[in-house]
Amino acid sequence: MRKNWIAVQDVEGRPYEECVELFRKYINPGLVALLEMGEYTSIEPRSAHGAIIIDGKGREILDFVSSYGALNLGHNHPVVKAAILDVLHKEKVDLSKELLSPYAACLAHNLSLLTPGSLDRFYFCNSGTEAVEAALKLAARYFKGKRPLFIYAENSLHGKTLGALSVTGGQKLREYFPLLPGRCVPYGDAEAIEILLRDTPKEGDDSVAAVILEPIQGEAGVIVPPAGYLRQVREICDRYGVLLILDEIQTGMCRTGTFFACEQEGVVPDLLVIAKSLGGGLASIGATIATTKVFDTAYDNPHDCLVQTSTFGGRTTSCVAAMAALEVCVQEDLGRRAQELGERLLAGLQAIKEKYPEWIRAVRGRGLMVGIEFDEQVIDKAPYLPAKIPGLKNVLKEHLPGMVAAALLKQHGILGTLMLNNRSVLRVYPPLIVTEKEIDYFIGALDDILGQGPKELVKNRVNHAIGAAGLKFIAPWAGSLLKRQR
Ligand SMILES: Cc1ncc(COP(=O)(O)O)c(C=O)c1O
Repeated sequence: MRKNWIAVQDVEGRPYEECVELFRKYINPGLVALLEMGEYTSIEPRSAHGAIIIDGKGREILDFVSSYGALNLGHNHPVVKAAILDVLHKEKVDLSKELLSPYAACLAHNLSLLTPGSLDRFYFCNSGTEAVEAALKLAARYFKGKRPLFIYAENSLHGKTLGALSVTGGQKLREYFPLLPGRCVPYGDAEAIEILLRDTPKEGDDSVAAVILEPIQGEAGVIVPPAGYLRQVREICDRYGVLLILDEIQTGMCRTGTFFACEQEGVVPDLLVIAKSLGGGLASIGATIATTKVFDTAYDNPHDCLVQTSTFGGRTTSCVAAMAALEVCVQEDLGRRAQELGERLLAGLQAIKEKYPEWIRAVRGRGLMVGIEFDEQVIDKAPYLPAKIPGLKNVLKEHLPGMVAAALLKQHGILGTLMLNNRSVLRVYPPLIVTEKEIDYFIGALDDILGQGPKELVKNRVNHAIGAAGLKFIAPWAGSLLKRQR
């Protein structure tokens, strides 16, 4: 072995601080700096089960992030784990492109029983963004390349590869990349789509292949559209002969109270994408689901069968994990659970909002896909602020939910985080196997943090930034943030 080589068995015994430094050195120094600000790097993730992560000091952390919706079944669900271990023990063929996996075929069959309408052609891949890419390509091929445009919504997130990014509305993510042409519309406004389609030709450079939407926008800050929105968009797409792609990567797998969120409006898209919790929290798998008509029109030639494939897509271990995950969703009735616990969570948070109206602007969501929108004006009530530092107040305002998340972690052992495209919203995404007691614990913890007042919150964060962490990593971040504020 080479000098300084780290054997896999030695990782566990290695001081965690050293691993953080390796992460900083080799992977993403900016991310490490960001996480240090919230003291996330002080927690060594040792093991996890259900909604609980155990850290290196044996402390229990309650996970209210669920890896942005990839852990609907919680960590290491025993049914998913057992299914994967079983295929490993039996040394099943995990990877072969020439020999068809019976697990991929049976997973597709089971999924077809859960998808609405006649969505019954499946393409398996490894992530959400790949599933979106495949959906965009299917739509483009369906129209034989004669319609190059996609309509997407402001502030949406569909993935970070170039195709999926092209239909992602979050501006910061798009900057500087060469993207596909498209048309961006306000989310929740069906008429805006109709106006666009009315003015576009059926073929040529300005014509539209598909509209892509999230049934509830996640990273935009948990934006629930007006009732009837999806149905209206469906009707408009039908009227103009345009395909509808629904991205259920966050909303799917029971998160919003039904297996797919679109079921709640009785809407069947032409293409539907899922990923995240499809792997049961233990495998990386995404799926693009199409109607037979769309799929077979797009890939209508036997020679097309290899146009859209992926080396690891549909591998046995991932498909087994997904089959087990679907079984858990159905058998544990996770949709109903998400709905009932979601009602409890929203009622509790509504009460917190009423108790602290100066802190919280809105509480919203469906099922266990919930966001708390904070009111940054509360920072004006924190007289501790070192007022002489220009722009600091604005930086703190921008990081209000982040400071609340850091306090929840430090004082109550709760893992929380922000939304990618909306910095004023705290994400509340517990796993769907969370208990009522854990929901109540979260609400009590939030009550405690807000009850301490904005001064205490700011004082703790500023002290941490200046004290324990030192200026070595704060300086570049604070510098760029302050520059942006001016
Ligand atoms: C709605 C939505 N679509 C697509 C994606 C991209 O999924 P992935 O990160 O697996 O590529 C995400 C990721 O958060 C998402 O939330």
